[in-house]
Formats: sequence, C-alpha cells, structure tokens
Amino acid sequence: MELGGAFTIFLALCLSCLLILIAWKQINKGGMLPPGPTPIPFLGNLIQIRTDATFQSLMKLREKYGQVFTVYMGPRPVVVLCGHEAVKEALVDRADEFSGRGELASVERNFQGYGVALANGERWKILRRFSLTILRDFGMGKRSIEERIQEEAGFLLEEFRKSKGAPIEPTFLLGRTVSNVISSVVFGSRFDYEDKQFLKLLQMINESFIEMSTPWAQLYDMYSGIMQYLPGRHNRIYYLVEELKDFVASRVKKNEASLDPQNPRDFIDCFLIKMHQDKNNPHTEFNLKNLVLTTLNLFFAGTETVSSTLRYGLLLLMKYPEVEAKIHEEIDQVIGAHRIPSVNDRVKMPYTDAVIHEIQRLTDIVPMGVPHNVIRDTHFRGYFLPKGTNVFPMLGSVLRDPKYFRYPDTFYPQHFLDEQGCFKKNEAFVPFSSGKRVCLGESMARMELFLYFTSILQNFSLRPLVPPADIDITPKVSGFGNIPPTYELCLVSR
Ligand code: HEM
Repeated sequence: MELGGAFTIFLALCLSCLLILIAWKQINKGGMLPPGPTPIPFLGNLIQIRTDATFQSLMKLREKYGQVFTVYMGPRPVVVLCGHEAVKEALVDRADEFSGRGELASVERNFQGYGVALANGERWKILRRFSLTILRDFGMGKRSIEERIQEEAGFLLEEFRKSKGAPIEPTFLLGRTVSNVISSVVFGSRFDYEDKQFLKLLQMINESFIEMSTPWAQLYDMYSGIMQYLPGRHNRIYYLVEELKDFVASRVKKNEASLDPQNPRDFIDCFLIKMHQDKNNPHTEFNLKNLVLTTLNLFFAGTETVSSTLRYGLLLLMKYPEVEAKIHEEIDQVIGAHRIPSVNDRVKMPYTDAVIHEIQRLTDIVPMGVPHNVIRDTHFRGYFLPKGTNVFPMLGSVLRDPKYFRYPDTFYPQHFLDEQGCFKKNEAFVPFSSGKRVCLGESMARMELFLYFTSILQNFSLRPLVPPADIDITPKVSGFGNIPPTYELCLVSR
C-alpha cells in the first residue's frame, strides 16, 4: 500500500475513535446512572427497543437488568423504574426530587413549558395549586361536578335508547359525554352532541392520543432535534394540537368579552380574574399562554383517558358476562331501577367498585406513565442521577406487579375484595400515578367512572356481536397510551 493511502486510513481511524469518544462522553455526561444495555452513539438502544412496542421492549430488558435500569432513547438516557417498590421509592418516598416533568418532545413543540401538565418549577406549582382549587370546589359554586356528571350520563342514556338494541360503535358517544363534563367545568357549558365543531374537536383529541402512541411519536421523542425539520407523519400531532389551541384561545376571547368578575362561570373566567388581579406583576404565571395551555391540558386529559377506560371496560364486561350479572345484582339491591346513581352509593357497592378498579388495572391506559425528571442531583439506590435526568415510571409494571396482584394478567375483580366481600385497597393500584405529579383529575375521573358504569348497567344489558370467548382485548395501539380495540355492541334495555 502506498504511504499516502495508509496515512489516510490511519487518519480516518483516529477520527472515528475521536467521534466515538465524544459521543460516549456526551452520553455519560456526569452521574453514575443505573446499568443497562450498552448504547451505540447516536442510536442509543434503538436496536433493543422496538418503537412500535416500547413498553414490551422495556419489560424484556427488565428481565436482564432488574427493576431500575438505564436505556438510551436515541442519544438521551432515561432511567426506567419498574414494579411497585421502585416506583414508590422514587415518586412517593423521594417525591420532591422526582417531581419534574420529563421531556415529551412530540408535544413540547406546542407547549414549550407552559400549561400545568408540562410545566416545571414555580410555574408548575402555581398552576397546579390553582387548577386543583378550581376543580375541587369549582370556584364558581352552583352545581357540583357530581350533578354535571349525572346530567351528562342522562344524555348518554337517551342516545343509547335511540339505538333500540341495534349494534353501535361507542367511541364517539362515550367521548362526547365524557368531554362534556370537563367542558362544563372549563368552558362553562356543555356542547350539543351534534355540534359540528365539538365533533371535530373530539376527533382531533382522539387522533392526537393515537398519534402520540405511534412509532413516529416515539422516534420524534428521540430525535426531535433533526425530525422537527423533516416533513412526514410525525408532524401530525403538532398540527392537531395547534388547532385545539386555537379553539381554546377563541373560547378565552369570548369569555373575556362577557366577563363579570363577581360571577365567574368557569375555569377560564377564574383564570382571567386572577390575570386581572396580577396585571401589575411582571413575573406572574397568570398569563394568556398558561391560561390557554392549562385549559387545553384539562380538556384533553379529561376527555380521552376516561372515555378510553369506559370503552375498554364495556368490552371487558362483555367478555366476562358473569361479572356484568353480579354488577346488575348489586345495582338492583342498592340503587334500584329508578333512582339516579350517586357517588354515595359507591361505599355500599364493593363489588362494582372492585370491578372498576380491576378494569383500570388491566386496561392500563398510560402504561409508561408520563415522563418525569429529577429536579436536582439525586442519589437513588446507590446510583447518581444528575439534575434533569429523565425517568419513566412504568405504571403498567406496577399494575401487574405479581407481588401485589395474585393473577397479574387476568381480569380478576377479587384483587380488590377481601374474604367477606368488602372492598380491599391495594397500594400498587396506580393508574393515576402517585406522588406530587399524581393525576390532577383523579377524583373527578373516579366519580365519572362510577357514575357512568352504574348508570349504563342500571338501564342496559351489554350484548357483544361475537361470543364472549372470541372477544379480543388486545389494544389497537400500544405506545404512550393503550388504545382499546374498535368494536360494536348492542345495548338492550333492562
Ligand atoms: C381514567 C382517567 C385518567 C387517568 C388514568 C389519568 C392518568 C394520569 C396520569 C398517569 C398522569 C401522569 C402523572 C405523572 O406525571 O406521574 C396524569 C396527569 C394529569 N392528569 Fe390525568 N388521568 C385521568 C383523568 C384525568 C382527568 C379527568 C383530568 C382533568 C380533569 C386529568 C388531568 C390531568 C392533568 C392536568 C395531569 C398533569 C398533572 C401534573 O403534571 O401535575 N386527568 N393523569
């Protein structure tokens, strides 16, 4: 070989080593993260993680690396927490350190750190406290959230009756009714079920939730730096969320024009009043961006999660008709045929309560949780997580933790019942997550699930179109969310 050629090869080798070293340093910057599969520069652990089955891939890695390990989602390290003990140790025992919101690049483009769900630091604390207060006592008095749900459940039953026992596909009927509950809180009124704009919003929310769970979104979360400049399907979420933002912004304008500070009608009015009170404070978090984006967080999170759970729940009840029959029995004993179900009935209905818990456990709507990060340098289980390290609390692994659930993969309502048939709490029941970032709408969601399931089953029996044994409960899409399969059912009046 010529001397020049050998020198070129030598130079190329040196350069490659240097690049690998730089990439390696970048990957390992600071900290002593938990062990995990060896990453490749730039690709990270993409070889070990299937972007169309991220949860399952991470569960496979757990078999080798244990309950706490590190994976590189592209160039970014993420500490994965599996099983009840590890998740509780982080989110509950070390609640403050683990209270940061981790990167979710696929929607961060729209939110840019504003709005309660993706905010951090003081901004998050202020928005969370404010939102909770409004949701808790509904600041504007008059009707309780329970009454709003009862009213909406009534409208849903009317729609179901119209089907006269013929097959229906429940996605949008359930979406409309659930969305109207949160709509009446944030926008002050419900939408008519035929309102074209409302239907479009629901379609967009449903689609965004599905898009967030596609391999495209997972890839975008890893390589947003590059992908944001490329055309393609991964941009769909961005445009959907922008349109939703525009809708909320137009509702804010409408409220502003008719605001009466003495009589706030909804969440937006309460926020606007706060904005006026704080108008001379240049550092206030009560600004238009936080108003629009927090309202959107509540509207979005309050719609798709509850309606997906109801949709999945009805499917499970059709697969297990003996469970449905027992709920009918309990409803007949405690509520009867005519009285509208109320939240007070829940303590008298342990079986129904246990079934709803089991539905939430098994359907596992947000299997990898919403990413967190550590807000300061943190020592955890002998490792060192530098400030800002991303963390995935694998809620799905807690909900199926064999130490806490006798038959983790089976629909078994007895997981939540003691020998006497009384309701039994289980500390690994965490569909709403836990710690400081626990779902802000938990009590509202629990109220909705109880009132909707009991109202539907008080009035109807569920009939599948295929034999129960053939009902497939595999999610349609599994990624950020577990999206229930599409199905039809008949609702037969009781
Ligand atoms: C079955 C229904 C629901 C489930 C399973 C669910 C689940 C979750 C989960 C897993 C989180 C992430 C918590 C974390 O970061 O660790 C969350 C956050 C959140 N949820 Fe829900 N949710 C439900 C219903 C609702 C409803 C009805 C609302 C609105 C009223 C809502 C509003 C929110 C908000 C605003 C956050 C962000 C909280 C924060 O970052 O501080 N959710 N939810």
